[in-house]
Amino acid sequence: MIPYKHEPFTDFSIEKNRTAYLAGLKTVEAYLGQDYPLVIGGERVTTEDKIVSFNPADKEEIIGRVSKSNKELAEKAMQSALEAFKTWKKVKPEVRADVLLKAAAIVRRRKHEFSALLTKEAGKPWNEADADTAEAIDFLTYYAHQMLKMKDGMPVESRPGEDNRYDYIPLGVGVVISPWNFAFAIMAGTTVAAMVTGNTVLLKPASTTPVVAYKFIEVLEEAGMPAGVVNFIPGPGSEVGDYLVDHPKTRFISFTGSKEVGLRIADRSAKVNEGQVWMKRLIAEMGGKNTMVIDKEADLELAAQSIVKSAFGFSGQKCSAGSRAVVVEDVYDVVLERVIELTNELTIGNPTDQSNYMGPVIDSNSFKKIMSYIEIGKEEGRVVAGGTGDDSKGFFVNPTVIADLAPTDRVMQEEIFGPVVGFTKAKDFKEAIDIANNTEYGLTGGVITNNREHLEYAREEFHVGNLYFNRGCTGAIVGYQSFGGFNMSGTDSKAGGPDYLGLHMQAKTTSEMY
Ligand code: NAD
Ligand code: ALA
Repeated sequence: MIPYKHEPFTDFSIEKNRTAYLAGLKTVEAYLGQDYPLVIGGERVTTEDKIVSFNPADKEEIIGRVSKSNKELAEKAMQSALEAFKTWKKVKPEVRADVLLKAAAIVRRRKHEFSALLTKEAGKPWNEADADTAEAIDFLTYYAHQMLKMKDGMPVESRPGEDNRYDYIPLGVGVVISPWNFAFAIMAGTTVAAMVTGNTVLLKPASTTPVVAYKFIEVLEEAGMPAGVVNFIPGPGSEVGDYLVDHPKTRFISFTGSKEVGLRIADRSAKVNEGQVWMKRLIAEMGGKNTMVIDKEADLELAAQSIVKSAFGFSGQKCSAGSRAVVVEDVYDVVLERVIELTNELTIGNPTDQSNYMGPVIDSNSFKKIMSYIEIGKEEGRVVAGGTGDDSKGFFVNPTVIADLAPTDRVMQEEIFGPVVGFTKAKDFKEAIDIANNTEYGLTGGVITNNREHLEYAREEFHVGNLYFNRGCTGAIVGYQSFGGFNMSGTDSKAGGPDYLGLHMQAKTTSEMY
């Protein structure tokens, strides 16, 4: 087998690649507005009630109408997953891994179609959509490789006349609940990690991006996934989510999303319900309030570029986004000025147009939430760039920089999940790290410094799951920078890392005497 290597990003300065992306866009435009069913036990189930997925850059454009699950259909899906588990758990790991490798090959062939769909459904600019698709391919490939490494269990000691083994076996039915911001990569990654390990899955994607999830189910089917192994049941989190989280036959939950919903799931899933004979396992990857720390001995151009990229890539709608800049006072004004300049140069508009750096935010709720935080920011600090939005056609928020905030201000503490970055001054590097640590989250962080001692200090003291030196704090690559956070950012499950599949299995010891 070819060793794992991450999928390269597409260079859109090359005309051939631009043409390929535009062809993908044409393919997607030809199927906009269609109806999509649920998939339960391989059967298509259509409901009257629909989730309407629309283009956040153009509210009038319908991406698709997707059937909506409810408690009864969620129960039907659970029964089908329980039935499929009886056979899927016995399918050889090699065969399960092959489904992922084939799915990766199919997605690679349709790469620009998937990226264009992300542009339309999630509002991702070309390069961000391309990265999301590449990450989906990476998860498929990496987890297939990891499964093959783990298939014979782990070596343990045996004494004369004794044979000890340590094998991994699947858990059962897993409920996978995914967010809209990596509508392809996280949805696909969390689903296939659960299935390649021999479990069966109930997939509830985010209601804002269900079409890309349906397209992925088709890919899995084409790649040879048997009926019932992954069941597709989009629906309201409050109804379908709660029902399945509470269900006594749910063996594990893999959730990625906000802290609020993650904590609700943690609370509910801890309760043992009638007929339940296990403690549910929970993987929960949640929000972030991530800081770029800028030292005085640093490449200040790199610092400004890294702050801007981390804050405004995909309109700041990444859990990893750098929404706080903590700058040592000696260089605060210089860095702030350069960030303002760079921010004012950013282009914003429909992401189908390659020249736009930023597209819309995901929906009306998000738009209102971000704009209300900008108002709070005007009270707490100084808005020095952006500060405006326009939701007449789509949900556009201009990239916004808020200066002179106190570390404890709301803009510096709460996850805004939009294109807003707050600036705070620190008297020295140690104080900057203290400020960086003073949120309830611990997902990503970046440090820009040329001082080796300070790098080592940050390595020990900056308490985040993904810490980056002399670069921005977004853009983890599967198999290279395993991803997951501390504290209220979640269970630090490290997606795309060597331990991740183990979270979806249980180890069994057998000891034979002869
Ligand atoms: P969200 O919490 O609103 O929704 C996530 C998923 O949970 C959706 O599918 C939603 O329908 C579902 N859900 C809602 N209520 C539920 C309930 N009661 N029971 C079960 N499921 C329910 O988050 P979002 O807006 O889709 O995504 C943005 C959030 O996700 C941000 O906070 C971001 O930081 C976080 N995120 C974290 C990571 C990570 O790896 N740590 C990655 C991406 C996004
Ligand atoms: N993998 C995404 C990033 O690191 C979440 O930005």
